Amino acid sequence: MVEYSKQVIDHFMSPRNVGEIKDADGIGEVGNPTCGDMMTFYIKVKDHKLEDIKFKTFGCGAAIAVSSMVSELAMGKTLDEALSITNKDVAQKLGGLPKNKMHCSNLGADALHKAIQDYKQKNEK
Ligand code: FES
Repeated sequence: MVEYSKQVIDHFMSPRNVGEIKDADGIGEVGNPTCGDMMTFYIKVKDHKLEDIKFKTFGCGAAIAVSSMVSELAMGKTLDEALSITNKDVAQKLGGLPKNKMHCSNLGADALHKAIQDYKQKNEK
């Protein structure tokens, strides 16, 4: 039986910022090659800060908790601050993940970073 921290259970049971932003400034989608799960992040940017973040995750409970935590950690941060959030930071903030679930934490920060890169490509020419 896999033991989850109370932070993981909390974010899985009531994930923050689930959904889609229709007129998103940047979108980042990543897939986990280990299990085939998918995660998409949508961002709104104002004055170089993340004004809004939403995500859609088709994946396991750990992946949903990871997405939720990433969105919470990055909300209101500058783009550079958000880019410095690592997958490891997210797993730590969640009180750790079981060893066989660590691969689930690999998507979160990557998907957010991809959305920021998408925004930069479109706007910083
Ligand atoms: S099993 Fe696929 S992300 Fe967790």
